[in-house]
Amino acid sequence: MSSKNFSFAAKIKESGDIRKIISVINEYNGIVKKVLYNSRIDSSIAFFEIANFSSDLMTGLIKADYILSSVQEPLFIKIKIHLPRRARAISEILTHADDAGVIITLMEFDTQETKKDDTLVLMLNAVESQSVKAFLDYLKTTYAIDIVEYTPNNEDLDNTIFYITYANRIRRFAHDQGDHFVLSFLADINSIAFELKKLGYDPEDIFMKIYENGETLNNTLGENFYADYQVIQLKPDTSLHCFQLPCGGNVYILENATESLMIDTGYGIYHDDIMRMCQHFGLWQNDKKKKLFISHGDADHCGGAGYIGMVPYSHPETIDLIRSGNRAYKSVTEGSKLEQIYTTMIGTFSKWLPPDSYQKFQPSDKDKVGAFPVFGSLKACGYTFTVLESHGGHQYGQLFLLNEEAGLFFTVDSCLNLKSISPERTKYNQLADLFMTSVNVDSDLARKERKDLLEIASDLTAKSDKPFYICCGHGAISTIKDGKLAVFGETTRYRHS
Ligand SMILES: [Fe+2]
Ligand SMILES: [Fe+2]
Repeated sequence: MSSKNFSFAAKIKESGDIRKIISVINEYNGIVKKVLYNSRIDSSIAFFEIANFSSDLMTGLIKADYILSSVQEPLFIKIKIHLPRRARAISEILTHADDAGVIITLMEFDTQETKKDDTLVLMLNAVESQSVKAFLDYLKTTYAIDIVEYTPNNEDLDNTIFYITYANRIRRFAHDQGDHFVLSFLADINSIAFELKKLGYDPEDIFMKIYENGETLNNTLGENFYADYQVIQLKPDTSLHCFQLPCGGNVYILENATESLMIDTGYGIYHDDIMRMCQHFGLWQNDKKKKLFISHGDADHCGGAGYIGMVPYSHPETIDLIRSGNRAYKSVTEGSKLEQIYTTMIGTFSKWLPPDSYQKFQPSDKDKVGAFPVFGSLKACGYTFTVLESHGGHQYGQLFLLNEEAGLFFTVDSCLNLKSISPERTKYNQLADLFMTSVNVDSDLARKERKDLLEIASDLTAKSDKPFYICCGHGAISTIKDGKLAVFGETTRYRHS
């Protein structure tokens, strides 16, 4: 017997099915923890979470044919049945449809005295082609029938199969994951929709926004890929390159004649495009000694590390956070289901291949900079960066890089110049805000973190006679002007061609 809760999607064919499923669960000593069913969204599927799950209970549910195990594209068949003038004919046909598990989504019957036969037109939906076959086999032996229309993908949907259709729409964003994954993902999304419904959101709107998130990621690849680009010449042979990707976090490359340091990787889904872009700029090539730094465990910053295939410099807790599958790891919101589900969802949609190990930083001779403890140092391109440990406001284990000589401060996701983020990126980011109320796992700490970072930046700006650059995790490289973040220099748009 397992103590872990078990979740499954259940087939609902008639009104008493939820009660019957609960009876089966009770019979095998399972404990119902959650039932989510909304016939307005989909009358054919309910989601169950049960405790005290056992293999006998599973067998009982399978035997009673309640477990939905496949999200095959449904069939839509329109048939015309020639009916003899016989009482009960319609009732018999509908009973057979029920027995076969066929869902009737359209029915037209109107007797016409002038004709010898009446005709009954039915539109059938069936997830399992076997059900339709059984029903058609029965009809053919009894009546003359015509198949009027047959399509495996009908846009004219009703709410009987919303989840199946939706699962098939988002399947392409799940990148070769099987039905089992798609179904558990669907259960998660449904759970989010119900949670957010309590806060006054429309579940259908949530489903749509999730779809749009996957679509936006997939529509900004290859020839549709772009990046907003800034370059800072730090020394004659040393430059910092900032790439704002279409969705998610920035990628920075610091490079001199012999070395290349990449700071964050962007989403895994952009890896090929980033490499193509680097080739165009002559960056991150194999003649350089390469180093990779990962600031934190969000998919838009570390999701490409596995494709790069290097062990990054990172916080050990970032690797633990990635393993936990929860971006709110070790934070006040760690128990939030929404944070966990968002982590899985965005990881899947963005094809994340995060790092599974880390390299240790060199020691530093400093203990603290401003309010932040020093975590170590990182040498690259002739500079020694001080690695600062965040308060954990945006995410536990997030690190910042600071080098006063170069005037570079990588404040990553804890201090952004929000005004520099383009409207389409802001729109994309709204889903994360909607899911989790805030992208920061601890809002109070995050506010303090931003204030403490800006304090260091302001002090160093005041001390320096050259620009001091704030390199944010999203948006443009900025400097502090009149106490505010202002975009530095020129930003140009890169496209592959
Ligand atoms: Fe980010
Ligand atoms: Fe982040």
